[in-house]
Amino acid sequence: MPQESRELAVRPLVVGAEGLLGRFLAGQLEERYPHAVSATRTELDVTDRWRFEEELERLAPTVVVNAAAIADVDLCERNPDLAFRVNAEGAANVARACRNAGVRMIHFSTDYVFGAEPPAGPGFAEADPPAPVNEYGRSKLEGEQAVLETLADCVVMRVSFVFGPGRPTFVDRLIERARQPGGRPSAVDSWATRPTGLDAIAETVDRVLDGGFTGLLHVAGAGPVVTRLAFARRALELAGEDPDRVIVQREDELDLDAPRPAATPLALDLHERTFGTPPRRWEDSLADYLASLGAGTAR
Ligand SMILES: NC(=O)c1ccc[n+]([C@@H]2O[C@H](COP(=O)([O-])OP(=O)(O)OC[C@H]3O[C@@H](n4cnc5c(N)ncnc54)[C@H](OP(=O)(O)O)[C@@H]3O)[C@@H](O)[C@H]2O)c1
Repeated sequence: MPQESRELAVRPLVVGAEGLLGRFLAGQLEERYPHAVSATRTELDVTDRWRFEEELERLAPTVVVNAAAIADVDLCERNPDLAFRVNAEGAANVARACRNAGVRMIHFSTDYVFGAEPPAGPGFAEADPPAPVNEYGRSKLEGEQAVLETLADCVVMRVSFVFGPGRPTFVDRLIERARQPGGRPSAVDSWATRPTGLDAIAETVDRVLDGGFTGLLHVAGAGPVVTRLAFARRALELAGEDPDRVIVQREDELDLDAPRPAATPLALDLHERTFGTPPRRWEDSLADYLASLGAGTAR
């Protein structure tokens, strides 16, 4: 099919379109696919199974991109009922509706399905047994399993420590603090992950829509695995600031509701085998994002 007709034939529906990932993907997909649509939580609630099925019939997408979630890790710990209702049952509702309507689904999960045990190799592969340490991870794990069991034509992308435009994340708070006179940002020397730019995730979504991949896929920034402290220092360096301004934060001083896994690096081999390349390097995504904030481009 010629590229132009293909782009008219693909009609993505982005759910959870007011969140960090949903908003970015909705923007990217609307640019590429003239018939793309998106829905916020008030427009389309994944916990309302019957209304969701009706709306799917009315909107008639060819693929649902489910970015709806309770992604606040501490809120999930305080309110596990809400976490499971949205992250597990909500995901299952979307998958069931997609199966009944014959629609593809791209769903997002998290590196936090791991963490109770260290990885056997340099990172967790898709086939490694999950072992979450908190309610967020447990609810997301139940959600991804429901999607994979319900719908053959689905892609579940596990992403990790996401940054980019749309909603302030760790990077934005770091830069804001560093810009204050005498400001000293802080970060824990743990929680080792692969940071992931929204642009890297959007590139993989594009590839999945172009190709025939189905199943579970790790999508995280290529390059070094870093603790929050190492990431913060590298971000300041890229922003042209002194990296030593970042102070080491003790985890127990943070008074968090949910325990955090010490290390959840995702292995990217399957992505590389499938698409011929790993996802975009996080340092490149970060340099571009910092430049967009007017915070230097030193590499
Ligand atoms: N951000 C990260 O670092 C990160 C890391 C790993 C994995 N992920 C995964 O990436 C995905 C997107 O996360 P995000 O960071 O974009 O989260 P986010 O910014 O909190 O966005 C989630 C969106 O889902 C919406 N939502 C909540 N309950 C809903 C419901 N019942 N029906 C429909 N929409 C609902 C929220 O709406 P309201 O704002 O109106 O409540 C919000 O707009 C999630 O699957 C998350 O688990 C994120």
